[in-house]
Amino acid sequence: MTDIKNMNEDAVSLELATLAERLRCANIAYHQNDEPDLSDAEYDQLKRRNAALEVEFPQLMRDDSPSLQVGAPVSEKFGKITHAVSMLSLGNAFDDADVFEFDARTRKFLGLSSEKITYTAEPKIDGLSLSLRYENGILMQAATRGDGAVGEDVTSNARVISDIPHRLTDAPEILEVRGEVYMSHIDFAELNARQESEGAKPFANPRNAAAGSLRQLDSAVTKSRPLRFFAYAWGEVSAPLATTQMQAISGLKDLGFSTNPLTQVCDTPQDLIDHYRVIEAQRSELGYDIDGVVYKVNDLALQERLGFRSTTPRWAIAHKFAAELAWTRLEEIDIQVGRTGALSPVARLKPVTVGGVVVSNATLHNEDYIRGLDSKGGEIRGGKDIRVGDLVQVYRAGDVIPKVADVDLTKRIENSESYAFPTVCPQCNSPAIREEGDAVRRCSGGMICPAQAVERLKHFVSRAAFDIEGLGAKQVEQFLKDGWISEPSEIFTLRARYGSGLQQLKNREGWGEKSANKLFDAIDEKRMIPLNRVIFALGVRHLGESASKLLAQHYGSWGAFEQAMIGASNPDGDALIDLLSIDGVGAVMAASAVQAFAEPRERALIDRLISELTVQDVAAPTTTDSAVAGKTLVFSGTLVKMTRAEAKARAETLGAKVSGSVSAKTDLLIAGPGAGSKAKKAADLGVETIDEDAWIVLSGQG
Ligand code: IVH
Repeated sequence: MTDIKNMNEDAVSLELATLAERLRCANIAYHQNDEPDLSDAEYDQLKRRNAALEVEFPQLMRDDSPSLQVGAPVSEKFGKITHAVSMLSLGNAFDDADVFEFDARTRKFLGLSSEKITYTAEPKIDGLSLSLRYENGILMQAATRGDGAVGEDVTSNARVISDIPHRLTDAPEILEVRGEVYMSHIDFAELNARQESEGAKPFANPRNAAAGSLRQLDSAVTKSRPLRFFAYAWGEVSAPLATTQMQAISGLKDLGFSTNPLTQVCDTPQDLIDHYRVIEAQRSELGYDIDGVVYKVNDLALQERLGFRSTTPRWAIAHKFAAELAWTRLEEIDIQVGRTGALSPVARLKPVTVGGVVVSNATLHNEDYIRGLDSKGGEIRGGKDIRVGDLVQVYRAGDVIPKVADVDLTKRIENSESYAFPTVCPQCNSPAIREEGDAVRRCSGGMICPAQAVERLKHFVSRAAFDIEGLGAKQVEQFLKDGWISEPSEIFTLRARYGSGLQQLKNREGWGEKSANKLFDAIDEKRMIPLNRVIFALGVRHLGESASKLLAQHYGSWGAFEQAMIGASNPDGDALIDLLSIDGVGAVMAASAVQAFAEPRERALIDRLISELTVQDVAAPTTTDSAVAGKTLVFSGTLVKMTRAEAKARAETLGAKVSGSVSAKTDLLIAGPGAGSKAKKAADLGVETIDEDAWIVLSGQG
């Protein structure tokens, strides 16, 4: 997989789309069917790659991003239970540096630099999570995680698991205990032997066996399966369990739950890592599967302050065990051309198994990477270059497409030559130019390059863009090849050009008059289109789905947006200042948007498209019940009781927009000491200004 730093937006969008689909299928296979089609390491790699891409390109995050999802929707087989408190997932750490970063991030969010923060470290059990609801000490409900919000009702099955108490004494009136249902190695082996002797399909691993056994319609079957349960968390509670994670866990133990004996309090990130090593060393002797170590902030008041991102808590992380490596021969280097013309080198490998998966392609990132240089010209791999014929090391931690990490020079074939990166586009022969400061070489052919044209058109019809029913990547490719369309606007003139003589379309395999008319109708349906989708569909570099939404929200109409992009080409004008004032729009994104409208060929293409469309304006935001929902807030000066990040996260949770600068559109300024010019500007503009204490009350934290 391409090093993200060297990737362009188009490649990223495409990869994010592929990842979303792949992970959606994997989730259904794993959570609903209990028959995973990816190994855990592979799944993590895809998720991690997805997250890494989203960190670098937040504007490209999809509405259906796997990062926004937990598990899979519940199976129709079971009754549904809406969780009183969502059941979330955990972010991942893959190496020691990620653990130090987790500590640093936590400290930064809380504004605690040198104060002691203690954590707990405990095994990450490889089973499936279960939420047990006790009311007045009696087990009333048990639910799987489902999609995090709604789980499957497995109450009668939970009642037959011997580790799960039916009754609790001295428990809060309402207590939801959460933990992992799992199967031990011995029990798994026995169960599989039994399955086989009965002619039933054996389970692939203990986790599947546990999930398949819990998710039974007949609890007698569950009862015959030796399931176990470790408690490690909680959902709704009518009274606090304790003031620390560790005390809460020992409280659960006192109530009669099994808790993991390897749970330990650690004072520093290094202690966490040390405990990780201790657990890792015992992994094979534990008698049940674990796939990492979970770290949690110990102080529950800090957990509360840290809160959650969309699907993961800020106060916890799972440090996963490592993925695998393999050596193989590099047979060929191919160059792929992306939507913005980026030339990406791909290694064709002699197929090799890495962590249970056969790998035959790997990314080589860019020409510098092949030469043994990083983006700043420093050496990587000790400066060793990569040549066709080399024995290379393939690495698959966190990447969809594996990376070539290293070269064994002692195995280099005689007379091998260093790789000459093409300087013309292999698709259209236009010069491939590498601009100053860009790691990527790009084809300068624009829409005349068939590779770029096809990628742009595919992007144009993709789900988050025009999403035309019956016009997917495959059809676009065919239409382009046949010369029926060469740019987006021509999609909308297809009926006029080919509608009467349907013959050509009809003669094509899979097309009849009915399907052709259906396609034309589907195209016509999308002439009316929301502004954010049009902006996204243009495929401008750095303008992903979220950025397109931000711009649409800000400008409201196509006319206003277009005028602004044209106006913003004046570096001293108000249009540029206004564009840059949008929270989430940075200089790179702004420059890219402005450039698209400044380039005459590009502008003409956009104009031709817009003349075919009715672009819908953005409706005013609907208000929710929070006092700041839909309002634009600015924070300025020093906050004492929380960090900026914490305040911003809170405001956004409440439905407010947070802007970086005060303007006539600002509704409220929260000013701490040293707010200076922003406070003055707010006063000049008559913008309401409050202090941190008033903000704490307003945001319901007081
Ligand atoms: S804490 C807010 N602790 O890992 C999330 N989870 O990848 C609280 N898991 O959904 C979860 N062992 O099913 C926690 N010791 C442990 C765990 C654990 C396994 C599972 C759990 C969770 C998933 C996230």
